[in-house]
Formats: sequence, C-alpha cells, structure tokens
Amino acid sequence: MIPLDTLGRPLHDLRISVTDRCNFRCIYCMPKEIFGKDYQFLPRAEILTFEEIERLVRIFAGLGLQKVRLTGGEPLVRRDLERLVAMLAALGEFDLTLTTNGSLLAQKAKALADAGLKRVTVSLDSLDDATFRRMNDVDFPVAKVLAGIEAAQAVGLAPIKVNMVTKRGVNEASILPMARYFKGTGITLRFIEFMDVGSTNGWRLDDVVPAREIVATIDRELPLEPVQPGYRGEVASRYRYKDGSGEVGVIASVTQPFCADCTRARLSADGSLYTCLFATTGRDLRPLLRGGASDDEITQAIAEVWTERTDRYSELRSSDTAGLRKIEMSFIGG
Ligand SMILES: C[S@@+](CC[C@H](N)C(=O)[O-])C[C@H]1O[C@@H](n2cnc3c(N)ncnc32)[C@H](O)[C@@H]1O
Ligand code: SF4
Repeated sequence: MIPLDTLGRPLHDLRISVTDRCNFRCIYCMPKEIFGKDYQFLPRAEILTFEEIERLVRIFAGLGLQKVRLTGGEPLVRRDLERLVAMLAALGEFDLTLTTNGSLLAQKAKALADAGLKRVTVSLDSLDDATFRRMNDVDFPVAKVLAGIEAAQAVGLAPIKVNMVTKRGVNEASILPMARYFKGTGITLRFIEFMDVGSTNGWRLDDVVPAREIVATIDRELPLEPVQPGYRGEVASRYRYKDGSGEVGVIASVTQPFCADCTRARLSADGSLYTCLFATTGRDLRPLLRGGASDDEITQAIAEVWTERTDRYSELRSSDTAGLRKIEMSFIGG
C-alpha cells in the first residue's frame, strides 16, 4: 500500500534525527542563550536505538520510501553512526545520505563510505573565518570543514552538496566568494533562505535574503541559467553556470514555498513522526516500538498519519504563524 496525503503527495523521503545534540551553536538554529549549559537534551534512554531506527526504515520502505537522510542535531556526534549506516545500507535500494556540519567529517568520512553511505551534504555558511566562527558561535574554523569536504571527496561520498544559510547583515558578503570557490569543483552549492523554524531563533522576515536576490548577485559576475527540476519534490531550484562549470541551487522555503510537492516526513531522535518542518506536534512511535506492536500495526499508524496530512505551512506563512510554538530544527531534524 502506497499512502497519499490529503493533497495527493506520496511519502518518498524520511529525515531521521539521530541526536538532538550538536557541537555547534549556530545563531539561527541553536542560539546559546537557549541551548546553554543548563539546556536539557534528551536522556539516552529516550533516544531510539539503531535497531529501532532500522526497523522503522524497513517499515517505511514498505510504504514507498525512496530516500533516507540522517541528520540532527549533528549526526556525527552520535557514537558509532557508521554502524547505523551499515544497517540501513543493507536494507536495500533507497538513496542514503547525511547532512553534517563537517566538523568531524575528516575523521569519519572513510568509515561512513565503507559502511555504505552514498553521499553527504555539508553545511558551511562562509569562507571568511571570522564570519563563520561568529555564525557557529563555538569558534570553529572554516579550514577544518573544508578538510572534511576534501576527505569526503577523496573517499567518493559524491555528489557532495554544500548548504549555506544566508542571513541578512550576517553573511550576505559570503555569497560570491562561496560561489567562486565551489564553481567547477563538482560540488553543488545551495543557498538556504533563513527560515522561521522553531521558536528560539528570533526570526524576522527582514533577515531573509530572498533567493531571487542571491541568484541575481551570482549571475552578475558568473552568468547562470535555470535548470528543470530533477524530480517531484526537489527542494532546491537549480541554476547552471552558462560556461558549463556546474550548478548552484537555492532553497527558497520562505519566498517561493514548495509545499505542494513536499514528500518528506521527519523522525525525531526520540521517535516522533512529524510531517512538516514547521510542525507543532508529532505522532510518538516509540510506545509502539517498545510496547510489542507488530510491523503491521506500526505500518498502519504511519499510514494513518500520512493519509491525514494537510501541512502546507510555508504557503500559509504570515506574521501570525511566525509566533507559533514550533519544534526546534535541531530536534526534528533539518
Ligand atoms: C539542523 S541542521 C542538522 C545537520 C547538521 N548539524 C548540519 O548543520 O548540517 C540541517 C540544516 O538546517 C539548516 N538550518 C538550521 N537552522 C536553519 C534556519 N533557521 N533556516 C534555514 N536553515 C537552517 C542548517 O544550516 C543545515 O544545513
Ligand atoms: S545547523 Fe547543524 S551545526 Fe548548526 S547548530 Fe543546528 S544542528 Fe548544529
């Protein structure tokens, strides 16, 4: 049975948050004032085990799943993550990838590739060291992330994507240097509009650099032309350099919402299923997993959540919705 939601969208992608913890405190995601020393992260016992995650992915595969992305928090701070990668890779034919801040990638790339990971997306918000250190807010240097990207390239975790969140007045000046640096490397740079995820990042519409402006900034120096989407539900609008030296993407969740084609579900580290990044509530699957439910019962529960899905938050976003108590991105999985 392949369930469709109320807007006819299939469940193709699952993003799994393997931990709510992170070694960065990006100002737009885990601001230090909130995620400080006293912040209560999930206790270990509440976090899904690798075996529980594998079981869920197997069940999702029966519902038409095509792609799994491991995320967080920072997925590489979860110990032995390569063991989970190997377990999921053994399940079969879906696309298996990971989003990371790159800080531990130089150490981990080979083990991840050996375990069966196909490719990675690395987040990097600037090549300017001072700007990057200010954005990650833990004084982490650019050079180590670049070393992680090189390590991933060396072991064939390709095609690599690099994600840059663009925030007005913070890193707009990094747009062109990033485009120049990654042009012609085979790595696709993608710009993400600063989003009003969670309730703690102090989002204001004025802080968003619209995708249109990002594309125009690059196009003035490095001419671009649009590319047709590769598949339904592709989040990035794609542009290719007219000289044939590669592509960039823009993820314009704020100014050009793509809810109509959204085929993504998200699983939090403690086993709740969310059908929108901007959700306020999820369906807790852990009591089923730990309470002896059969695979059929869990399939039924997931299918029910999906067939009832009505989400299209980004299309409805307004000054009223920005104030809703939404789940933090580091928890729900970016
Ligand atoms: C939540 S992170 C989790 C994975 C990993 N820690 C990382 O940074 O790649 C996933 C992605 O979400 C992006 N992100 C976090 N907060 C955001 C926000 N408020 N607006 C737009 N993108 C955001 C990050 O830049 C990153 O590319
Ligand atoms: S964006 Fe990623 S690296 Fe930055 S704080 Fe959020 S989870 Fe951590």
